[in-house]
Amino acid sequence: MLQSLGSVSIEEFLSNYWQKKPLLIKNLFPDFECPLDHNDLAGLSLEEEVESRIVFENLNGKPWQLKHGPFEAEFLESLPDEDWTLLVQGLDHWVPEVADLLDQFRFLPNWRVDDIMASFAPVGGSVGPHYDQYDVFLIQAEGRRRWQIGPVCTASTERLDGTPLRIIKNMEITEDWVLEPGDALYLPPGVAHFGVALEHCITLSVGFRSPTKAELFSSFTDYCCDQPSANQHLTDHTTKPLKNPGKIQDDAINDFKTYLEEIIEDEQMLRTWFGEFVTSPKHDGIVEPVSEEEYISEHELEELFLVPEVRFRWNEGSRFSFLPLKDSLILAVDGHSYPLNSANQPWIELLCSSNQVDKEKLRELISDSELKLLATLFNQGSLRISTDDELDDWGDDA
Ligand code: SIN
Ligand code: CO
Repeated sequence: MLQSLGSVSIEEFLSNYWQKKPLLIKNLFPDFECPLDHNDLAGLSLEEEVESRIVFENLNGKPWQLKHGPFEAEFLESLPDEDWTLLVQGLDHWVPEVADLLDQFRFLPNWRVDDIMASFAPVGGSVGPHYDQYDVFLIQAEGRRRWQIGPVCTASTERLDGTPLRIIKNMEITEDWVLEPGDALYLPPGVAHFGVALEHCITLSVGFRSPTKAELFSSFTDYCCDQPSANQHLTDHTTKPLKNPGKIQDDAINDFKTYLEEIIEDEQMLRTWFGEFVTSPKHDGIVEPVSEEEYISEHELEELFLVPEVRFRWNEGSRFSFLPLKDSLILAVDGHSYPLNSANQPWIELLCSSNQVDKEKLRELISDSELKLLATLFNQGSLRISTDDELDDWGDDA
């Protein structure tokens, strides 16, 4: 985990910058080596399952145009020498070494991680002046990129016509920086930014997202509707002839308010839903249950603990969180929740603290009766086994 962001301590960053104002961090990752190059990114953009797109500053006379992947190799080869950007989304899901970069940011909650996006651009490449709804750390991975930033934008900020992208019309520039490999720029939601490649460059965007109120309400009400009590009907309190049948009685409203209050006061349910909701995979296909042949029993797991070269990792793209509640605790992983008693807290904390699980420490902390739960996490596809070779070989396989 990063111990500071340049000269700014993590404490200072969280109280003064996070969600508040931009921060340029020179040399955040000294001697940064990008785990993949433009050929790897191009290769990924040919794949059906990988979300990719290309932004052109100008295409057939139209400004800031967009093409969605997957792309054909011939098309990529025919691209001009300047002024386009290839974006590959969810890179942490595809490249374990990129997923490991997230461990540098564990001073922020796991459940806020959206994904790591990579951009590759030849000279002049850019996605245009825009703002995002997310917090982002823009890490300069290869080459130099000029970043101009501006004020916080709102829905009423004027946009350019004739483009499918949300491009700011006349972006005011408040800062102008050149980022070199290893430098990073933190931007809170809403801040206008415009990055242009000064030469062939790769930028990694580590994005953090929080749900909107609408997303929370919609998920929570769906969850409530799935509860057994949801089939109960509102009671009719009419006991006397009504003066006017058109009047809706206060009793009906008050009954509904009572339902809401009961739900709000049910901390167990609220936390269970919240944990499940915020750890749900970003989209289908990220967390897949293992096949029958790969299924691990708790006894097999016990043996795997004894094999030195076996490592335990979160599945790339998995989200691990926990929620303490009085003398109990809820483990929430990839949209599933597991109620536990608080005696489990030490191993659950360890499990949720890093995507590279300290297997030896975990064995010391976990009781035999909880191996079954750990096996469940493997079998649902949230944990996986890796070996050192696998990470070293990644570049060769891609
Ligand atoms: C880029 O890497 O070119 C764009 C990233 C961003 O603006 O969020
Ligand atoms: Co952006």
